[in-house]
Amino acid sequence: MKTTISQVAKHVGEEVTIGAWLANKRSSGKIAFLQLRDGTGFIQGVVVKAEVEEDVFQAAKNITQETSLYVTGTVAEDTRSPFGYELQVKGLEVIHESTDFPITPKEHGTEFLMDHRHLWLRSKKQHAVMKIRNEIIRSTYQFFNDHDYVKIDPPILTGSSAEGTTELFHTKYFDEEAYLSQSGQLYMEAAAMAFGKVFSFGPTFRAEKSKTRRHLIEFWMIEPEMAFVEHEESLEIQEQYVSFIAQSVLENCKLELDILERDTDKLAKIQAPFPRITYDEAIDLLKEKGFDDIEWGEDFGAPHETAIAESFEKPVFITHYPADIKAFYMKPDPDRPEVVLCADLIAPEGYGEVIGGSQRIDDLALMEQRYQEHDLTGDAYQWYLELRKYGSVPHSGFGLGLERTVAWFAGVEHVRETIPFPRLLNRLYP
Ligand code: 4AD
Ligand code: MG
Repeated sequence: MKTTISQVAKHVGEEVTIGAWLANKRSSGKIAFLQLRDGTGFIQGVVVKAEVEEDVFQAAKNITQETSLYVTGTVAEDTRSPFGYELQVKGLEVIHESTDFPITPKEHGTEFLMDHRHLWLRSKKQHAVMKIRNEIIRSTYQFFNDHDYVKIDPPILTGSSAEGTTELFHTKYFDEEAYLSQSGQLYMEAAAMAFGKVFSFGPTFRAEKSKTRRHLIEFWMIEPEMAFVEHEESLEIQEQYVSFIAQSVLENCKLELDILERDTDKLAKIQAPFPRITYDEAIDLLKEKGFDDIEWGEDFGAPHETAIAESFEKPVFITHYPADIKAFYMKPDPDRPEVVLCADLIAPEGYGEVIGGSQRIDDLALMEQRYQEHDLTGDAYQWYLELRKYGSVPHSGFGLGLERTVAWFAGVEHVRETIPFPRLLNRLYP
C-alpha cells in the first residue's frame, strides 16, 4: 500500500511503499541505514543483508544522496528514533539517480547555501523552519476566523504609499507611476468600514537599503483592522493573537522545535497579558542602561530594542511614540497631541519589532491637516480621505511581520532562513 511518512503510525506491522529521497546513509557489510525523507517527514529505513535479495542490499549500499526511490518495507515502532518509527526494508526501486548533490552532510558557508536555496530547502533544519512558518499561517487563519474577521486581499500594485515614500519599489503601470505595496493598511481601513473586522495576509515590499538580520526586501505581513476598536483594545487583540500562534507552534511543532534545538521554555512564556511601557519610559530605561546619547524624539534602532527587550521575559509593547517619527495616519493622544496612540511589539531575545500598530485618525479635518503637512496631494489619497466623510468611526489595526515572527519562534538568527526564497539587498536568485 502506498503511503507517506506522516501516515506510518497508522500502519505499524504492515507492509507499505513510500516515495522518498535519500537524505543520508550509513552502511556496513551486513546492514544499511537509509535516512529517508518524503517532504511529510523523515524516517530511517533499515536494510539487513540476510533478510533481502542480494540486489536490494547492493542497491541500498550504492545509493547516492538525493536519489529518488520507492521503498517498500514493514513499519515498526522505534523508541530510539525522534520520529518514533522505522521501516524494515524489503524492496527498493530507484526512480532517478542523483549524482554529486552539492549540499553534503558537511558544513557549508551561508552564501553557498543561499546560492543553492532551491536545494537547501530539502534539509532537515530548513524543513523544520518552513513547517513552523506554515503553522503560524494556519493558526493565524484559525484565530481570526474564530473571532469573526473576514479575510480581505488588498492590492499589491498601488498608487498610494502607506509608510512613506523613501522605501517604495517603483514600477510602470502602463503610462502611470505605480508602486509595489509596502502595506495593505489603507485598503484594510476601507474594508473595516465595510466588514467591521478584517485581516489580510500577503507579500509587501520595501526597497530598504538595510542589510540586517531583520530586514527583507519582500516580506509577508498579517494586517488586521478593526472598526469601533480603540488603542487599548487593539493591544489586547494583539497579545491574544500572538499568544495563540505561539502556543499553537509549541503544541503542533514539537518535532520541528526539537530539530532546531529551540528553548521551548521561552516560548511557553508567550502568554497574554504582555507588559506595556511608554516611549518616555523606554527613553528613561535606555538612559539607565547606558545609552546616554539618546534624545526624546529619536527613533529606536536594533540595539535600543534589544536592550529594552532584555528587561522583560515576555514581548513588550512600547506605546505613545512622538508623532514626528511615526506615520501620518496615527491618531494623536487627546491628552498629549505630540505623541500618538500607537504601539510596537518588541520580541524578547533580540528578535526585534514584530508588530507595528496604531489607532487611526478618524477626524476629517485633522486628516486633511496631516495631508498638507505630508504633502499628500493628487487623486491617490482622496479615496482614503473619503473614509472619514461617511460615518467615520474610531478604528485601529496592526501589522505583524511573518518572517520576524518565524525567526523568533523557531530560534533562527536571520530572517533569510524564514522565507522559502528570500529577496535581500544583494540577492534576487534563486
Ligand atoms: O511597522 P510597519 O512598517 O507597519 C506597517 O506597515 C503598518 N501599516 C501596519 C498596520 O498597521 N497595518 O511594519 C509592520 C511589521 C514590522 O513590525 C515588522 O515585523 C515587519 O512588518 N517588517 C519587516 N519584516 C521584514 N523585513 C522588513 N524590511 C520589514 N519591515 C517591516
Ligand atoms: Mg514599524
